[in-house]
Amino acid sequence: MYKISIPSDEQDLNAYFHFRWQILREPFNLPEGSEKDEYETVAEHRMIKDGEGNVIAVGRVHLNTPEEAQIKHIAVSNDMRGKGLGQMIVFALEEVARKMGVERIVTNSMDTSVEFFRSCGFEVQELGPKELDMQRRQQMLKKLAHQGAVRLHPNWCEELQKTWYETIPITEHMGIKLYQYTGHALEVRASLGRNINLHGTMFAGSIFSLATLTGWGMIFLQMKQKGLAGEIVLGDADIHYHKPVTSEPRAVCNIETMSGDFEYLKRGKKNRLTVTVKIQDVDRAVAEFEGVYWILPETDLEE
Ligand SMILES: CC(C)(COP(=O)(O)OP(=O)(O)OC[C@H]1O[C@@H](n2cnc3c(N)ncnc32)[C@H](O)[C@@H]1OP(=O)(O)O)[C@@H](O)C(=O)NCCC(=O)NCCS
Repeated sequence: MYKISIPSDEQDLNAYFHFRWQILREPFNLPEGSEKDEYETVAEHRMIKDGEGNVIAVGRVHLNTPEEAQIKHIAVSNDMRGKGLGQMIVFALEEVARKMGVERIVTNSMDTSVEFFRSCGFEVQELGPKELDMQRRQQMLKKLAHQGAVRLHPNWCEELQKTWYETIPITEHMGIKLYQYTGHALEVRASLGRNINLHGTMFAGSIFSLATLTGWGMIFLQMKQKGLAGEIVLGDADIHYHKPVTSEPRAVCNIETMSGDFEYLKRGKKNRLTVTVKIQDVDRAVAEFEGVYWILPETDLEE
């Protein structure tokens, strides 16, 4: 039985790129090195090896935007085609994209692999650009359905997401994405690839930003629910990092952890609230954040 693996050490990565070159570039007389591009360090890579440790299939996925992932460089060795390995790689990359919280996956397929991508659920959108190998490409798309993610008040969720991106542009670069809002809990996710440090784990400053935004977002949504308006600012914060984040960063803020109410704001005064945000690496708790937020009434802002 074949198993998907992640090329992690130098030997694996060399074998992975060499294989990619052999299948996708060497037939077009392109030199070694031409198989790589500027996304390698932020992309997720997957491969399959045979029983002797030889690479027999590879593929990669990276984020184009927080909503869109791109699958690229799928290759299966000539003598192993037609056994389902190509599909195994695409589905493994699709799973990675799902966890990143994207809505769709695109790929620029050569004419010869359009049927293969169709079998994986992609549809042809338009004629894409010619690439290094000078083959004409078809842009293909697959929309992902997120099972289980609840979005109560989708309009407010969209407004919050838009507010983050428009007022704090770095949130888009960090791949910050509102994943789920149930009315009681808000879950926000970030891309690990875009927030990685030199140890291959999530940068502590990014964890802090993810937590800050989640607490901020929870107050934003609670104010919407109560029909209140005002400017939310972080006054003070404390964070404890217990373990490194190694995959799928999530921040969860539960309404039960919110202390304080909105009575001052209702009377047109500055309002203080404290919220706790738990940072998880998949389902493992890795950090805890406590933020003190102030809500400034609109009248204060006009003065
Ligand atoms: C395209 C490629 C990755 C497919 O890998 P694979 O392991 O042979 O594909 P699978 O066995 O998983 O095939 C899945 C389905 O796609 C179909 N398929 C695969 N290649 C096909 C082709 N060239 N033409 C028509 N159908 C094809 C299979 O018949 C199968 O359908 P089924 O589920 O109904 O049986 C492989 O042929 C390859 O490496 N080609 C060269 C590089 C390339 O073109 N990469 C794509 C990047 S643009």
